[in-house]
Amino acid sequence: MKFNLQKMKELFNKNSFTGPHQEIFDELVEITEYFFTLEELDLKIPFRGFLLNGKPASGKTEIVKQLAYKVAKKLKPANIRVELIFVNSSDISSGQVGGAEQKLAGIFNQEDQETKYIIFFDDIDCIFLNRNSKKSQNGLMEGWLYRINSTLFHELDMIDPRRIIFVATSNIIKMVDNALETRLYRFDVPKFTRAQLLTIMKKRIPRALEGKEELITLVKQELESTEHPNIRYLESLITRFFIKEIKNRENRE
Ligand SMILES: Nc1ncnc2c1ncn2[C@@H]1O[C@H](COP(=O)(O)OP(=O)(O)OP(=O)(O)O)[C@@H](O)[C@H]1O
Ligand SMILES: [Mg+2]
Repeated sequence: MKFNLQKMKELFNKNSFTGPHQEIFDELVEITEYFFTLEELDLKIPFRGFLLNGKPASGKTEIVKQLAYKVAKKLKPANIRVELIFVNSSDISSGQVGGAEQKLAGIFNQEDQETKYIIFFDDIDCIFLNRNSKKSQNGLMEGWLYRINSTLFHELDMIDPRRIIFVATSNIIKMVDNALETRLYRFDVPKFTRAQLLTIMKKRIPRALEGKEELITLVKQELESTEHPNIRYLESLITRFFIKEIKNRENRE
């Protein structure tokens, strides 16, 4: 799926990206902007893109969305168009022999020379298994993996980062093929701390629930009582609270 600046503005602009991973984010923005505005590329620089590694719900996908949005916004005044291509495994699945390889190559073969692309493979370990992993040790699957991986490596080696930057995320780095990992500039995204989670959640209280102290108390309780607090669970707390509020309101009316 392709996202241009307008679409990213509508969908990613939550006004709540507080950026606990600010340093990583700033570096990603800086490097991406550098290559997208570079006139002459020194071919000796083997830069092709990034790999974001981190536990589930550490904010990897969000970082990439915000990266694309920020760079697109920053480069617009210079008349440089930036789009995000969000690749799903369904984008490269095919019932035909060789079909997946063809689809994969097609993603890298963007014809509009005037646009810069961030090609994003979210949860890449779900699409490209490590060729040595146990799951891949059966004939047919193994052959397919070799072919699809080698297509990916070939495309990556041909990338001109002035036009295309590849970004992948993973939460199981050992499932990522070493040949992929070593081609990319890796960042390890840390888990959110409790304090960061509280700050984020406070900013994400829906307008209708603003000032509801019980909700903040609930979030705080959850943060204190869980060993590994998870932002998705906190989000679901807010949703549940919100739905309960609506129902109460309806009952009162
Ligand atoms: N800096 C932030 N500010 C506010 N919300 C955030 C921030 N970072 C992430 N989130 C929210 O936290 C949730 C989890 O983040 P995200 O989906 O990016 O995690 P992930 O690392 O990609 O997880 P997974 O490995 O399971 O795919 C999302 O709802 C996201 O919008
Ligand atoms: Mg994700």
